[in-house]
Amino acid sequence: MSVTPTISIPPTAIVILGGTGNLAETKLLPALFDLYMRGALPSFFMIVGVSRKAWGDVDYQRYVTEAVSLARPHASTRSVTAFASLARFRRGDFDDALTYAALGEALSEIDHLLGMCTNTLFYLAVPPLFYSTIFAELSASGLMDRCKGTTWSRLLVEKPFGRDLETAIALEAQLREQFSDEQVYRIDHYLAKDAIENILALRFGNQVLADSWRKGGVATLSIRLLEHKDVSTRGSFYDGIGALRDVGQNHLLQMLALLTMPPTDVRDVEAMRAARAEIIEALAPPTHFVRGQYDGYRDTEGVSPDSATETYFKLTTSLSTPEWSGVPITLEAGKALGEARADAVVRFAGGQQCHCGVEGTAHTHDNELTITIAPEQRITLRLWVKRPGFDYVLEPRDLELVHQSATDRSSPEAYERVLYDCILGDQTRFVSAREVTAAWRFITPLLATATPPLVYTPGSSGPKAA
Ligand code: BG6
Repeated sequence: MSVTPTISIPPTAIVILGGTGNLAETKLLPALFDLYMRGALPSFFMIVGVSRKAWGDVDYQRYVTEAVSLARPHASTRSVTAFASLARFRRGDFDDALTYAALGEALSEIDHLLGMCTNTLFYLAVPPLFYSTIFAELSASGLMDRCKGTTWSRLLVEKPFGRDLETAIALEAQLREQFSDEQVYRIDHYLAKDAIENILALRFGNQVLADSWRKGGVATLSIRLLEHKDVSTRGSFYDGIGALRDVGQNHLLQMLALLTMPPTDVRDVEAMRAARAEIIEALAPPTHFVRGQYDGYRDTEGVSPDSATETYFKLTTSLSTPEWSGVPITLEAGKALGEARADAVVRFAGGQQCHCGVEGTAHTHDNELTITIAPEQRITLRLWVKRPGFDYVLEPRDLELVHQSATDRSSPEAYERVLYDCILGDQTRFVSAREVTAAWRFITPLLATATPPLVYTPGSSGPKAA
């Protein structure tokens, strides 16, 4: 594991609201452990888990130990135990003011231990229906204003932010009223993926690509997030959400923004957020849209037996910007599919002349660039070359760059990056209110689709009509 330069940050308490949920267990606690092992957390930090379980600190420390050991089986017992000893727990309901009073006491105990006030990061690892209540309670309890002027308090909020355009606007209004924008970090963990950030490096760092990266040069663009895994134990969460809200409104649109935004200074927070928002705002209503649901989904625990929630979608849209107008853009995502991969495929326009030789007169010898995000980081450029031999015949060959193999963990995982950036106070890889609103404006009309989703066989490539 590579070591991130240690940056001196004052003591910080990391509060996980939903501290015993799936996200905390599988992503956040392992990510915090990784940061701890890299020396990339403040020299003093503590974790405070909050949930409804009737637990105390020792129970939570055991839970943290188990979660980290499961996710990082090669970690030494000593390191995991030392990390877990920094965890505390408070029991409570999110709509109960007493929960926040108890949390306040836990934070004061930490301050007392240190002899100074800590920074506080509140991570909302809870279903979106709790957001509004938690914002209101955090505000009313004064926890977001602890030791004002000397330390910071920040709020990390998971996607989906709201259920549709209307609810997102209402949540934004509440946030604006109760907190300052510098305190709010809206997460889209795809923006924090190294492989996705590499899209910008590839585009802005290589003039040879930059020149044809626009309409005229690019024939089509497609972005896919295909998953083998089904909804599994997340039925009750997923059934109220569906694929469009789960990954369409956020991950896929953010990838699209990075693939099509004009050259922008990646170190300029405001410029980056504005550039992404401008792309999402320029999306045209889809010309083609298919929703699917895998066979057997309705038998999942927590899923309604007559559920019309989509577990798959595919749509074709375009952008109204001068650089991209008319270029078809396809977005596709789904669960329980035969293939597991996240990628972006840029098909460049074919050459005007065909020097294809005797066997190849039919093909257009267009080049295709595939940026694979998962299961590994790989960039593949399909080129046309002469097949060795007497005849002049072209054949496609792939130029490949494996940026990071599936087992290589040297660069930070997305959730490490999310936590690290928030602690440093860097909002570049977090979504602005403007981006959230623009994304809902595009997705919300699709949510109203009345026709039931098309059923597809698990392990297939989705509904036949797609
Ligand atoms: C999450 C969704 O945001 O992204 C999941 O809630 C999805 O349903 C996941 O599986 C995909 O992210 P990753 O990092 O595993 O590609």
